[in-house]
Amino acid sequence: MKALVLPEIEAYAEAHSAAESEICRALREETYRTMELPQMVVGPLEGALLKVMAHLVGARRVLEIGMFTGYSALCFAEAVPDDGRVLTCEIDPKSAVLAKKYFAKSPHGRKIEIKLGPALETLQALTGPFDLIFIDADKVNYLHYYRRALELVAPQGVILIDNVLWSGDVLLQPPPDRSTAVIQELNRTVAADQRVTAVLLTVRDGVLVVRPRPGLNKTA
Ligand SMILES: C[S@@+](CC[C@H](N)C(=O)[O-])C[C@H]1O[C@@H](n2cnc3c(N)ncnc32)[C@H](O)[C@@H]1O
Repeated sequence: MKALVLPEIEAYAEAHSAAESEICRALREETYRTMELPQMVVGPLEGALLKVMAHLVGARRVLEIGMFTGYSALCFAEAVPDDGRVLTCEIDPKSAVLAKKYFAKSPHGRKIEIKLGPALETLQALTGPFDLIFIDADKVNYLHYYRRALELVAPQGVILIDNVLWSGDVLLQPPPDRSTAVIQELNRTVAADQRVTAVLLTVRDGVLVVRPRPGLNKTA
């Protein structure tokens, strides 16, 4: 993943945002030591954003699509109240083993439920509403995830979608691959969608914040 923000600015922003917990730090470090593609972890700055968003909507029920080793799931678990729940989807059993190790160490880990398997199948079986839905799995399915998230999100809830700048490749025409093409289509779709209000934040690799508009039929 290409850095889109100057490293010094990124470090400054991180230093002036809520710090990650000790358990999140240890999980991030072990992920970097032991896993392929550790840069998939959202990291401290975006983790702080996820926690603030969860607090802003008063999230009690969070749905995550794409857990990896559990960093962002643990951020959400730390942000929801004692009776809150974080349901997280992951297809890779090896990632889930590391996630479970750290969930067991955290006092917030008991709030997290892992759904192992293809997220699209998991999502079909779920019932909403969820106060916050975080989309961060395979990019080729982003439009499917967005459509299903709109059905599952609470009227006062929020959908967050990660990597929507795709290292800057969203600017390329024609798109070099299917993932880029789908992210471009998702960004166009959300921008034109009258059912929602959205803002694309240039945090890390781009985070799209999508809020259902009050009174509009979500299935329209
Ligand atoms: C970018 S990583 C998630 C990072 C995580 N949110 C974090 O901050 O640590 C994307 C994850 O989605 C998982 N994934 C990919 N395709 C999937 C699918 N169809 N269903 C469920 N999970 C999938 C991958 O195995 C990977 O662990």
